[in-house]
Formats: sequence, C-alpha cells, structure tokens
Amino acid sequence: MMNPVIKALNFRHACKLFDPDKKISKKILDDILTAAHISPSSFGLEAWKFLVISSDEVKKTLRPACWNQPQITDASHVIVILSKPKLADPSHEYIKLNFGRRGLPEDATKAYIAKYKHHMETEVFPRMSAYAWCSKQCYISLANIMTTAASEGIDTCPIEGFEKEWVEKVLNIDKSLYEVSVVVALGYRAKEQPPRIRHPIESIIEYL
Ligand SMILES: Cc1cc2nc3c(=O)[nH]c(=O)nc-3n(C[C@H](O)[C@H](O)[C@H](O)COP(=O)(O)O)c2cc1C
Repeated sequence: MMNPVIKALNFRHACKLFDPDKKISKKILDDILTAAHISPSSFGLEAWKFLVISSDEVKKTLRPACWNQPQITDASHVIVILSKPKLADPSHEYIKLNFGRRGLPEDATKAYIAKYKHHMETEVFPRMSAYAWCSKQCYISLANIMTTAASEGIDTCPIEGFEKEWVEKVLNIDKSLYEVSVVVALGYRAKEQPPRIRHPIESIIEYL
C-alpha cells in the first residue's frame, strides 16, 4: 500500500483553475487549520497568524493585489499567512512568555532565552530580517496546510505572486504587529492537473 502522505503529496499540484461552485466543508477546513496550528516553528515561537477568507467581497478586493490571479476569487477559501516579526526580538516580553510556558526551572528558562538571543544575533539577524526568518516558519505551516488539504482531496495553490503592501492595505493589516508572508488558495480543481515536472531524483539527492 502506498504511504498515505506520499499519496497526498502526489495528489497535490499548484492548482491554477478552481471550481468556483465547490466549497470546502467546515470539518475539512478545521482539519486544515489544525495542521497549521500544530506546525513546528523554530524555538516554538509560533510568530504567525492565519487569516481565513471565504467572503467573495474580500476575495474580490484581494485579487488585483495578487497579480489578478483567478485562484483568489475562484477558490473556496484563501488563507493569508501573516508573520509577527516583532515577536522574534530577543528583548520582547513574548520571548520570556514563550520560553516560560515550557515549565522549566527559572535558571533553565533564562539560559534558553540567552541561547536564543545569541543565536538570533550571531546567526539569524546578520543574514536576514526578522520578517524573513518568521516567514520561513510560516512556510512550514504552508506545507502542512497543503498536504493536509491534499489528504482530504482538496486542491491548493501557494501564492507568492502578490504585492505585499497592497495586500496588507486591502486586508487592513495592523502593520505594527503583522506582515503578510504567503497566501494559499484552497478548493476543488476544475480540471485534471497537468503532468508533474521535476528534475530527476538522482540530480537532487546526494548520500554521504
Ligand atoms: C512559495 C510558493 C509561491 C508560489 N506562488 C505562485 C503563484 O503566485 N501563482 C501560481 O500560479 N503558482 C505559484 N506557485 C506554484 C509553483 O509554480 C509550483 O508549485 C511549481 O511550479 C511546481 O508545480 P506543482 O506544485 O504543481 O508540482 C508557488 C509555489 C510556491 C511554493
């Protein structure tokens, strides 16, 4: 029997054409959102938020900000994944809260926070913004959303083709807290998916 996760991954294609009349049930949507909720993030920071859009009105205003891609208005739901870059600041109150909730002794918590601060200052921030780092975590949830959706026969299209500031404007994002990382459209395919294009597996895997 085929591994059920591989089966779901094989089902998944970046869906360009959704059937606008088919809607995702509440039960399936809840499963997909659970996958987002329990996704891992570096240091367990969970510096994200998921805007679930089903309103045709909102989708219509969002579409031009997303290169006018029809997936936005044809899909049953659109999830906009927001990152919360300010929470990654080692001196933010949230860092204490985040590490404190593990129930470790106070000394261990303090050591953990110091390790986090050191890591962010020496490895992360010299190479990327807090937004980019938080977005990396958001993409893990994106993958889990897509795979869980596929396991339920739901199609998705991950979307980076958008103008960030425009999207933030139409969705009234509080930019003091949030920034848009990535968008995903979800629904049912309107036609068969084309054959998948990939480089041969030997060309991307090296065993050491
Ligand atoms: C982060 C990300 C952003 C993407 N943005 C778009 C997009 O804006 N519009 C689109 O049609 N496809 C988008 N794609 C889909 C890719 O083009 C697609 O995944 C790739 O060509 C491989 O095809 P497959 O997913 O069907 O296997 C995106 C994919 C990823 C992972």
